[in-house]
Amino acid sequence: MGYPFCFLINALQDMKNDGILTVPIRDEHFSFLKAHEASPLKSPSSPQLSPKTTANADLNRTMVMPTASGKADISSSSIQLQEKITASHSMPQSVFSSKREHWEDLRRRVLNNESLKMHVRPGKSLVFGVGHLDAKIFFCGEAPGADEEIQGIPFVGRAGQLLTKIIAAMGLSREEVYIGNIMNWRPETETLTGNRPPTQEEMQFCLPYLIEQVEIVQPKVIVALGATAVSGLLGYDRNRKIGAIRGQWHAFYGIPLMVTFHPSYLLRNNTNATKRAVWEDMLKVMEKVDMVISEKQRKYFSKI
Ligand code: URA
Repeated sequence: MGYPFCFLINALQDMKNDGILTVPIRDEHFSFLKAHEASPLKSPSSPQLSPKTTANADLNRTMVMPTASGKADISSSSIQLQEKITASHSMPQSVFSSKREHWEDLRRRVLNNESLKMHVRPGKSLVFGVGHLDAKIFFCGEAPGADEEIQGIPFVGRAGQLLTKIIAAMGLSREEVYIGNIMNWRPETETLTGNRPPTQEEMQFCLPYLIEQVEIVQPKVIVALGATAVSGLLGYDRNRKIGAIRGQWHAFYGIPLMVTFHPSYLLRNNTNATKRAVWEDMLKVMEKVDMVISEKQRKYFSKI
């Protein structure tokens, strides 16, 4: 049971959307779920990602799938469990023959998910991660903005263009790294303009999809861009100050996680000190993934 509880809830909801109404479950797992039925989502700082799905031998219980989700279900982190419903069904095998196959399946599940789609403005899109599936560096932002929900691609607006420049300064292209967001939709606002940070509940709802992307890519380093991404990945902490923890290594499911400023913060605070801070964080990331760093790059921060 390495996955966080929210991952399981979403996975079950995805299966239910696909018409699977009961799943077989081992006794010990059933007891675990029962014990955690009403417990809130926890985001431990460095648990391990789970091993791949195991075969369905010895499965001897069935579990009722969660009820159809809607807006009101977002806050629900509990699952309706009921013992012994029907005779055993066979467990769908979630073993993919390649990373690409797993990623495409996940992308399809996200983009077709009615619970996510209901938050998207008419004519706009959900946004799923992009990049190399063997990327060593996984950049994680908070949520799509106006440009992203039009194109359905993360980080393509002004902040995204700055992120692309930072990546280029590292000697990489967008295609060589992975870029994702905690959130898959642009958080709703009263007006069509302006952005708001996602709530903790909204982030918890989308987080399992981000976790699954991390699991597919298995990056050497995750870069959390800004305070909201940090809250989504490491859990909310009202006393946390991004300026105090940036440049330090943390861990997300055992993967080293570097905290740095969000590019939109850089756009608003376009000072040499802020640019230097972000660049120093990127140098640490480059060192961590064993990239060769030129003298020019070591002195490059002032040019970003
Ligand atoms: N800001 C983010 O955090 N993500 C995007 O995709 C765009 C802007």
